[in-house]
Amino acid sequence: MKSLVLVGFMGTGKSAVAVELARRLCWPLLDTDDLSIRSAGKPIARIFAEEGEAFFRELETRVLRELARESAPRVIATGGGIVLAERNWPLLRALGEVACLTAGAEEIFRRVGANPGRPLLAGAPDEVQGRIRELLAQRREAYARADAQFATDGLTPAQVAENILRWREGRKNGV
Ligand code: S3P
Repeated sequence: MKSLVLVGFMGTGKSAVAVELARRLCWPLLDTDDLSIRSAGKPIARIFAEEGEAFFRELETRVLRELARESAPRVIATGGGIVLAERNWPLLRALGEVACLTAGAEEIFRRVGANPGRPLLAGAPDEVQGRIRELLAQRREAYARADAQFATDGLTPAQVAENILRWREGRKNGV
């Protein structure tokens, strides 16, 4: 059976929605950020600072390759930038259905703010707001490649999970 893969910008709720989905489906939950952290033996901010972003992107691909080796269904939350590398797409699709969570720039800023744990969103608040808009615009096409998009503004993780499960059922039944 296929896994369910969640992609989407930072702060769109991938981790919280993945917890709900794993609970509802009784599937294991994995997170590519956690697996990258475990593999590097240090938090993401330190990987970026000490090894650079390109190294982190390589790690993400390595983690996806490892995950693709197993066929058991899992809920897989991913880091917001996993959609950027072309080489990751065949791996994401091999893993299963790819659902993209979305949120508006203001909502994303409200949720994550300026955040030293997320190196791409570190800095002064107004600078970070601008960076969120810029990155969202740069990545729009990459996120659009997912099998479906799920808005999260004003919804709880449980509601978003419900929408994803309904979509999945529809696909299974050929709707
Ligand atoms: C990133 C998103 C982060 C993490 C890293 C880079 C990105 O994951 O992988 O800081 O490029 O969007 P979350 O989306 O879980 O915050």
